[in-house]
Amino acid sequence: MFSHRVAALRPSPIREILGLVDRPGMVSFAGGLPATDTLPHPRVDLDPTTLQYGPSEGDPALRAVVSENLRGLGIDAPPERVLILSGSQQGIDLVAKLFVDPGTPVAVENPTYLAALQTFRFHGAAFTDLDWTDTPAAPLTYVVPTFANPTGRCATTAERDALARACTDGGVTLFEDDPYRELAYGPCDRTPIAARMRGGSWIYQGSFSKTFAPGLRLGFLAASDDLFPRLVMLKQAVDLHSSSLSQKIVLDAITAGTWPGRLTDLAAFYRRRRDTFDAALHRHFDGHATWSPPDGGLFFWLRLDRPVDTRTLLPEAITRNVAFMPGEEFYAGEPRLGTLRLNFSHADADATERGLRTLADLLTEQ
Ligand SMILES: Cc1ncc(COP(=O)(O)O)c(C=O)c1O
Repeated sequence: MFSHRVAALRPSPIREILGLVDRPGMVSFAGGLPATDTLPHPRVDLDPTTLQYGPSEGDPALRAVVSENLRGLGIDAPPERVLILSGSQQGIDLVAKLFVDPGTPVAVENPTYLAALQTFRFHGAAFTDLDWTDTPAAPLTYVVPTFANPTGRCATTAERDALARACTDGGVTLFEDDPYRELAYGPCDRTPIAARMRGGSWIYQGSFSKTFAPGLRLGFLAASDDLFPRLVMLKQAVDLHSSSLSQKIVLDAITAGTWPGRLTDLAAFYRRRRDTFDAALHRHFDGHATWSPPDGGLFFWLRLDRPVDTRTLLPEAITRNVAFMPGEEFYAGEPRLGTLRLNFSHADADATERGLRTLADLLTEQ
């Protein structure tokens, strides 16, 4: 009755457990949620034409602003090669459709963003480990070089240069996913790898979810000439175009003159949350785990001193009203045991203290 593609589709046990995190009193370190206090209160002056169908590529005015920003980063992205997405998750889906057949090798960091792994897996990807200094052994390489999800790591200048060169010289398509670049709290060379490519095939994407409002479901991509028209055709087949209302709200916000101030305030707010979280981690996890405070993004990556499969801890943690993401889920192949991804942006100081104490108690009892 169903297609071959969905034969291997299984509900993720983790997602099912995390479905419980909305209940009252729960401290969630699980999702990559912006702090509710940072979400905007947009007032929309709506012309009814905004509610009409629009172009698949996106609102021309929004594409122009995105293009200007990307060019400022050194990326060869004229407005004609900017595509507005219904969330950057959609970009992953479009790229997977463009490149991945059953058995197609895709080079990824290990660990990497769980929902990208799921999308590539759905299309039958065969994952290979990315080696930053060597030509990827795959036609497509997916990277989150700036404040990676889940590790928070920022790739070095040398790694960025080497990967750009390896992709160009080796005929490998670079797919750079960059939703966290604006949330920077420490020194890191954030110049995109796509800006370092001299020719070759590439896709660079970003998101308005972490800097503005995830519920608007809006992101964008730019791509090299050889890929862009195909990505637009794939998008047409998915949703015709992204929400005109969301595009209007975002366009108003980023052209209002207050946008640069918003980004600065946001980074300062999250830097404080990161530091609060780090201090609480030291109180409760010194002697149990190691970590480095991330220079950006929304996550701490913990390595426990013991190889506990943290997936087995999650149900009891949820019973005690704390949610986290087991690190094992982010590995393409055999996972490294004893890792946790903890989101620090959503919970306030009291909830953070309570949640980390509960998690540390749980670990000690195990
Ligand atoms: C690395 C990465 N890519 C893409 C996304 C998807 O973001 P959105 O679809 O909200 O733009 C996320 C969300 O957490 C992410 O961490």
